Amino acid sequence: MNLPTQLFKRKSISACISDIENPATRLKKVLGPWQIIALGIGAIIGAGIFASIGTAAAGDALRPGAGPGIILSFLLTAAACGFAALCYAEFAALVPISGSAYTYAYATMGELVAWIIGWDLIIEYGVGNVAVAISWAGYFNQLLAGLGLQIPVYLATDLRTALASPEILAQAPHIGSIPIVCNLPAALIVLLLTWILVTGIKESARFNVLMVLIKLFTLGLFVFAGFFYIRPENWHPFMPNGWAGVQAGAAVIFFAYIGFDAVSTVAEECRNPAKDMPIGIIGSLVICTVIYVVVAAVLTGILPFSQLNVPDPLSLALHSIGRDRFAGLVAVGAIISMTAVLLVFQLGQPRIFFSMARDGLLPPWFAKVHPKHRTPHVATILTGLVVAMFAAFARIDEMVDLTNIGTLFAFILVCGGILVLRIREPHLHRPFRVPLFPWVPILGIFSCLYLMTGLPQITWVRFGIWLLVGLVFYAAYGLKKSRLTSKT
Ligand code: ALA
Repeated sequence: MNLPTQLFKRKSISACISDIENPATRLKKVLGPWQIIALGIGAIIGAGIFASIGTAAAGDALRPGAGPGIILSFLLTAAACGFAALCYAEFAALVPISGSAYTYAYATMGELVAWIIGWDLIIEYGVGNVAVAISWAGYFNQLLAGLGLQIPVYLATDLRTALASPEILAQAPHIGSIPIVCNLPAALIVLLLTWILVTGIKESARFNVLMVLIKLFTLGLFVFAGFFYIRPENWHPFMPNGWAGVQAGAAVIFFAYIGFDAVSTVAEECRNPAKDMPIGIIGSLVICTVIYVVVAAVLTGILPFSQLNVPDPLSLALHSIGRDRFAGLVAVGAIISMTAVLLVFQLGQPRIFFSMARDGLLPPWFAKVHPKHRTPHVATILTGLVVAMFAAFARIDEMVDLTNIGTLFAFILVCGGILVLRIREPHLHRPFRVPLFPWVPILGIFSCLYLMTGLPQITWVRFGIWLLVGLVFYAAYGLKKSRLTSKT
């Protein structure tokens, strides 16, 4: 097969579906609609609403704050995500395969774009998980400190911060001339969840449902505790930095919405994907949007927005009105919420590797299924080790920016894929159809691009380098081993 033909060769929808009939690589079908909505909420509500909301509202040295207008930022981002969510729902119902956007791209835009998106999704799931793990560790360390248990600072910091701080370096033990510095709790939580995931999706989903209930309770508690302390004068001025602030806020809190798409990665393990996938994806997005808007209104109503740029703005707000016990409970809830996010993201990443390996674009051992647990254990363990390593050393702000750009790019490709597939294969039976076609996918593309342009230039450069490295990998391995090519 010549090169251009291979690069744009598509995997037919029927071939995608026949893959899941193969008993050697088949996953267990155990998930119902409520478990899927729970997986969505588990992935969505986390570091974004518990931490990034403060930066988005107050602003920092790099960006203007949205102020109480953060409510509009949430709605703006929800609209962009909503367009993408509808496109994800159409694809997930049509191609209920574990690879999510990767599989959709393979069926619509060909192998090269599929590879690019699969590689790009590593950023969303893998790098996103690194960011949440670091944020988790921040809360965890605070909580321990509150209990009088202080983790040594050199075991609770990223590498760059440590190397720039003579004080931390002086405290750290050394092996020869190499200082021992890392974010130990961030790495350990990732490893613990990896172990839970290897033992089976059913147990993991149940664990997730429990954590989701706890996180809904936590945010409910925040609203309940703070509602009667709202001072409407805190909502004036509503947009202290005008639309620029609202837009910058939207770019930051996009992170808070990432995750609804993760639901599509478990389509293959879903009992009735045609019906349950759209319910799961759109349902979780709508529920989270309502919760975010209410929390944002209460938060900015309790405390002047300028005071919110702290790692734990919700707890701070409750402390400021004297509700200390509630503040402690909310902090514990934040930790549990982020654990749930880590769980779903770590569930998603190996399943994308799994699909890519099944197609021959990654080595076959990525697609190994555990004989007893029926989970993609090799990919799960490998992902866990790499994410843990980065969580131990990386900086959170850089990880958040990179996650946002990678995810927005994936959303754009998915919206584009819907347009392409509707034109190429208009008569396919689609159990769920995007309404107002072609406007929804077109609006999805432009709104995600709009959010992407709000990210710093360095993030674009990093993202470009990541994609280039991916292309080199593809040329060196996937191009030769692709199952689609070797079959023809
Ligand atoms: N939406 C997820 C969070 O906020 C990534 O933690």
